[in-house]
Amino acid sequence: MRITLGVLVLGAMLALVAACASTQGSSGSAGPRLSQLPPVSSPADNPTTPDKVALGAKLWIEPRLSGSGKMACTGCHVREKGWTDGLALSRRDNGDLNTRHSPTMYNVGYATTFYWDGRAATLEAQVLAAWRAQMSADPAKASAAIAAVPAYAAEFQKVFGGPPTPDTIVKALSAYLRTKVSGLSPWDRYEMGDKSAVSADARAGFDLFMGKGRCAVCHTPPVYTDFNFHNIGLEAGKPKPDLGRGAVTKNAQDNAAFKTPTLRSVAISGPYFHDGSGATLERAVRYMASGGANDPNKSPMLVDTKLNDREIAQLIAFLSALTSDERYAPPALP
Ligand code: HEC
Ligand code: HEC
Repeated sequence: MRITLGVLVLGAMLALVAACASTQGSSGSAGPRLSQLPPVSSPADNPTTPDKVALGAKLWIEPRLSGSGKMACTGCHVREKGWTDGLALSRRDNGDLNTRHSPTMYNVGYATTFYWDGRAATLEAQVLAAWRAQMSADPAKASAAIAAVPAYAAEFQKVFGGPPTPDTIVKALSAYLRTKVSGLSPWDRYEMGDKSAVSADARAGFDLFMGKGRCAVCHTPPVYTDFNFHNIGLEAGKPKPDLGRGAVTKNAQDNAAFKTPTLRSVAISGPYFHDGSGATLERAVRYMASGGANDPNKSPMLVDTKLNDREIAQLIAFLSALTSDERYAPPALP
């Protein structure tokens, strides 16, 4: 098991390195590599361009998009918290408490379904839904507020050849989110040949992650997710369990299954899990390593791997080496 998985992943990594080497950098071929991850593709009707991304970066922090005029997307997806918000559950713009934890935006461009339960099929559909629900916005009204700002009107004209509309606002936000690709972490630097980039514990933790701990079965490198849905037992015993993926597919076997999160920068993105119930990274790792709570529907791929305290600490050292520090400076708003 251990060897097969290791070989598989090594093959995948080599393929990726080759892919990255040939497509490296929008700024030129000779620059330093900024990420180990492959390029993100964009839909035919919304190609990613630098100008569109720059516009989306403004809209991302723009409170004019919300019903109250006070909430921006970044209110619940904060850079310093790994694009999450540090809360188990957050309050929407209208004051309602969310029922699920704010997920990270890291590597969302690689996903093929969106939300914890995958109910949105495209990023654009997801962004429109978040705009309405989380920001209590009427997209037509909010678009008019953006259109009333001359600098925005000019920028939309340049990027889309037309005024701000719900459609173009969603497109700019989605293009921006597709650039949220994890940059290099110490672990990536280690894999690229810098043997001093991580500790011996982190290296031991990686071996556990790939082998005895069986984590990579679902958290598959290099994005550290399989983009699939699994029941890990978190709804067991709750009076009104969240059906998660099951409510979308109407298949009882999917009940309480949720999307596997990327583990890149996971050390800064607590609390954890779809319900925010994992208060610390150590608790989340211990929960996963113990095989999770007893739920008849729990994934058979999650088992008690009987790791000792030292091995848990090594897993945490490895996960902490997956934190990247890409540059981020919020743009000025017009
Ligand atoms: C009040 C907090 C809050 C605000 C504000 C907010 N979000 Fe979210 N976001 C969430 C929560 C909670 C979820 C998960 C909901 C679920 O899965 O049911 C989520 C999920 C997402 C996802 C899906 C990620 C994935 O891995 O599938 C994207 C993309 C996203 N939000 C983008 C946005 C954008 C764009 C905005 C602004 C228009 C926004 N969010 C505003 C809380 C928020
Ligand atoms: C059966 C597939 C599977 C296996 C095996 C697995 N995970 Fe997970 N992991 C998931 C899913 C699915 C979630 C999110 C589930 C939820 O919130 O309901 C998750 C969540 C997590 C989280 C929380 C991330 C966040 O952003 O909230 C951490 C940390 C984690 N796993 C680490 C591990 C470690 C370490 C191992 C090995 C000991 C492991 N996982 C094994 C599927 C798996």
